[in-house]
Amino acid sequence: MAASRTPILAGNWKMHGTTAEAKALAGGLAARVGGRTDRGVVLAPPFTALATVRDAVAGSNIVVAAQNMSWADKGAFTGEVSPGMLADLGVRHVILGHSERREIFGEGDDVVRKKVEAALKHGFTSIVCVGETLAERDAGRTLEVVKRQVDAALNGLGADAGGSIVVAYEPVWAIGTGRVATREQAQEVHGEIRGLLRDLALPADAIAILYGGSVKPDNVDGLMAEPDIDGALVGGASLEVESFTRIVEYRA
Ligand code: PGA
Repeated sequence: MAASRTPILAGNWKMHGTTAEAKALAGGLAARVGGRTDRGVVLAPPFTALATVRDAVAGSNIVVAAQNMSWADKGAFTGEVSPGMLADLGVRHVILGHSERREIFGEGDDVVRKKVEAALKHGFTSIVCVGETLAERDAGRTLEVVKRQVDAALNGLGADAGGSIVVAYEPVWAIGTGRVATREQAQEVHGEIRGLLRDLALPADAIAILYGGSVKPDNVDGLMAEPDIDGALVGGASLEVESFTRIVEYRA
């Protein structure tokens, strides 16, 4: 990654963890990596553990994020959690458009866009996820799909929004499969995304672009050595103190 950007290592816990488990994991990570100022460390537990994790990392530099958020402020939206509810917990970071939201829960580009706008309106930093499926990659459509997703989420937001946006490139075929994209495959798409951000008049050189999809202690160093890979969004390997600590402490 380029020295001008601060790397971000984010753990997406997905639907894992009781409050007791969350407290132990977050507390363990706060003790190991909570003092780092040269790398941003983000933990995204389930909604039910947000307050627990917030308290467990209090006093450290670790940032707590939600995994999803409603675009609505309030109202008849059963099962949804609003930006104001998260802000009330002290949470100001959110993962949006994760492929599991898109694929399993039917969130289209339009929904992701509304959520990005809501996040900006409420002063949140969004980690906006994009990425192609295996069928799309095999059909040679990777860049087309990623471009469509980036464009839908970020086009026309205005340069000021740049400071509140992080992009995560997560090829769907690499998520939870153990099949990581090669560093060259990831760098190619990251470079394209940075060009797209520039085309959208966003401060492309200042925006962190994370890679996600089977990031592990044994592949993070190589990925982070690529010039346009500014961090990682980590699922499975973020659920244990040792493995996520090693990822935060990557050596590039
Ligand atoms: P994984 O998940 O690290 O378990 O592949 C990454 C993600 O979905 O963010």
